Amino acid sequence: MDTEQPTAEIPTEPVILPRAEHTISRKQIDENSLKVLYRLRRHGYKAYLVGGGVRDLLLGRTPKDFDVGTDATPNQVKKLFRNCFLVGRRFRLAHIRFAGGSLIEVATFRRQATEEDRPEDPSLNPFYAENLFGTPRQDAFRRDFTINALFYDIEDFSIIDHVGGLRDLRDQRLRVIGDPLVRFAEDPVRMLRALEFVARLGFSLDETAREAIYLRSALIAEAAPARLREELMELFRHKVAGHVFANAQGLGLLEYIIPGYQAGPGTLALLDAIDRRTAAGQPVTESLVLAALYYEIFSAGLVAAGDLPIGEVLGRAAKLLIPHCLHFHIASGIRHQAAELLVGCYRLQRGPGRRGQQRFVRHPSFAAALAFYQLCCEAGQGDVELLSAWRQSLTETPKEAPRKRPRRRRRRRKPASSPSQS
Ligand code: CTP
Repeated sequence: MDTEQPTAEIPTEPVILPRAEHTISRKQIDENSLKVLYRLRRHGYKAYLVGGGVRDLLLGRTPKDFDVGTDATPNQVKKLFRNCFLVGRRFRLAHIRFAGGSLIEVATFRRQATEEDRPEDPSLNPFYAENLFGTPRQDAFRRDFTINALFYDIEDFSIIDHVGGLRDLRDQRLRVIGDPLVRFAEDPVRMLRALEFVARLGFSLDETAREAIYLRSALIAEAAPARLREELMELFRHKVAGHVFANAQGLGLLEYIIPGYQAGPGTLALLDAIDRRTAAGQPVTESLVLAALYYEIFSAGLVAAGDLPIGEVLGRAAKLLIPHCLHFHIASGIRHQAAELLVGCYRLQRGPGRRGQQRFVRHPSFAAALAFYQLCCEAGQGDVELLSAWRQSLTETPKEAPRKRPRRRRRRRKPASSPSQS
């Protein structure tokens, strides 16, 4: 594919913003990244800050990390840094480690593969397309979105924009580099990333990209489940899960990300409640995410079933979660914790007055279930009065005195028969 064809939107020449015309200062850049950039530069290589770091600095946000792009090959990078390790099977990257555990990723400029690059037998080198070194301009064009393809050049502190990313940053618009239909077909996970960035940055999604997601949504079913699982958790870490799930569902993408899944309005409200809680500083776990995705369906199934023994409820929760966990290779421990949250909510719904419920208060899963039920209440999915009744009963439940361990009797050993006795 030739994404480099200049169009009305893609300039033929890069826009170069000199130091005086942008706000990025070296004070904002991590010290170790600067060391790497300077050393590469001193040895005659090009050295740019690339990707999300440049985007975030220009938006006045704090970048998660600073990645470096260079024309030095991975082996040349390795020769310059004692603390350098080459990693990656698909594409070779240099990782430079510093004291205190910080790690700077250095990637050689690469280019998009063309038909001519295709080996006669690609099975002999399945990653051929990932390791083609290229020019900085080609490297910009192989990236996903224009705002992610800006370079900060350590030589003169200018910003280099090959793809119109500066204009899109200014217009707060997320635009795919090249034809979205083609770029999404190359890597369908870009569709989910597009929705993630739109939500994280509060940008609008370019109309051609929106249409392409609508048309190509089914392709995402072919993406590796492990990668999708990671991207889904990223949504929660960035506190945009509710927003992105709603958008993905609206565009017909969600049912292909999680096969056959549909999020009801209660679920979307619950994801929003989780995002608010994460924004307030609480960490999010995968078991909580799983429980939230299936809580509404789980509860709806129980309404008609009446009173059930807990073993049966646990069985229902497991049955609901198993297909998802098998598809995404989620460990049974995580699934079990999610099932406990769901069953915990069932027990909470029965109220604190019931026989045996006070034992539940002392159960190790109680606190997590109560916290989850509070989220359900915030999302209009739980009974607020019941929640406060449980809170009340907590203050009234006497702490059980720790049970004394029964003393173990020492077994008398038979006296070994002495040789003299035998
Ligand atoms: N990238 C890409 N296509 C992908 C993944 C990454 O083109 N499927 C490029 C983009 O230029 C992106 C950079 O690699 O900016 C780094 O990717 P990543 O760390 O996933 O995202 P960031 O943009 O750095 O955003 P953040 O780390 O804040 O999530």
